[in-house]
Amino acid sequence: MPGIIYQGDNLPILRDMDSGSVDLIYLDPPFNTGRQREDGSNSYSDSWPSMDAYLDFMRERLVELHRLLREDGSIYLHCDWRVSHHLRLMLDEVFGEDNFLNEIAWCYSPTGPLSRNFWSRKHDTILFYSKSPGQNTWIRQYTELTDNDLKRFRHVDSDGRKYKIVRGHCQYLDEHKGRQVASWWVDIPSRGTATKSKEWVGYPSQKPIALLRRIIEASSNAGDVVLDPFCGSGVAVAVAEVLGRVGVGIERNDDVVPICNEIMRVAADRWRLTWPAEVISS
Ligand SMILES: C[S@@+](CC[C@H](N)C(=O)[O-])C[C@H]1O[C@@H](n2cnc3c(N)ncnc32)[C@H](O)[C@@H]1O
Repeated sequence: MPGIIYQGDNLPILRDMDSGSVDLIYLDPPFNTGRQREDGSNSYSDSWPSMDAYLDFMRERLVELHRLLREDGSIYLHCDWRVSHHLRLMLDEVFGEDNFLNEIAWCYSPTGPLSRNFWSRKHDTILFYSKSPGQNTWIRQYTELTDNDLKRFRHVDSDGRKYKIVRGHCQYLDEHKGRQVASWWVDIPSRGTATKSKEWVGYPSQKPIALLRRIIEASSNAGDVVLDPFCGSGVAVAVAEVLGRVGVGIERNDDVVPICNEIMRVAADRWRLTWPAEVISS
């Protein structure tokens, strides 16, 4: 099934979708920055009359997202210091405290203006919850070993294979999967440090392909439905499609489908995968 992006306010669209029809949700809603977010011809308003108004907007949508998730599904809510404390309490309320799994810190490189009287705020928070305790799809993710890790493989066997001794056993370098990713992510640069990359299509607050790849590969299987109800450039839909999932997006702005298809081509080329049919609009 090709990916699809619905155009319009997400609330009525979510209300029309079937309960238990989604395996993984990623959402990167407005963060209540009080600004008009602009980049070239693309823009969206992120301004609310009050924090209460913003939270009411989010609560209505999170209740629907909870209904849509399958029992073994999970949700990642991307936000920052402005609203992460409010949204964590809201997720506890809607999904249940027992379903809290992680508060992930995505630490992007410290570019841009630095603050004068406090630590520069250079990470986003991604709140990760399951629908039911212990049932969520979970596939461990790994990064490359560091030079220090590599130095520990100081033995070489008669076949020339490097290994280290761990608790009395040989661990071979060529069988090592890499470093297991924990809840702080420092290896995925933001747009500020990767402006030359082809993936930046000029959407305000566009998130990196690598970030979505990590989330989708950790918490879904091939064929699963991945929903992004605030999909913006459609990067989550694009990555889901390239990885063999069914990507479903919702976006209030029109004209994001060509942007999403462009990102899909970049992701597919980067990973030398073939991309499926174009993402279509509805
Ligand atoms: C932070 S941006 C998402 C960026 C996206 N993750 C990306 O990587 O391109 C939030 C998006 O939510 C959209 N949006 C805000 N309110 C919406 C609503 N009620 N229904 C659908 N989309 C909405 C905005 O137009 C904006 O594109």
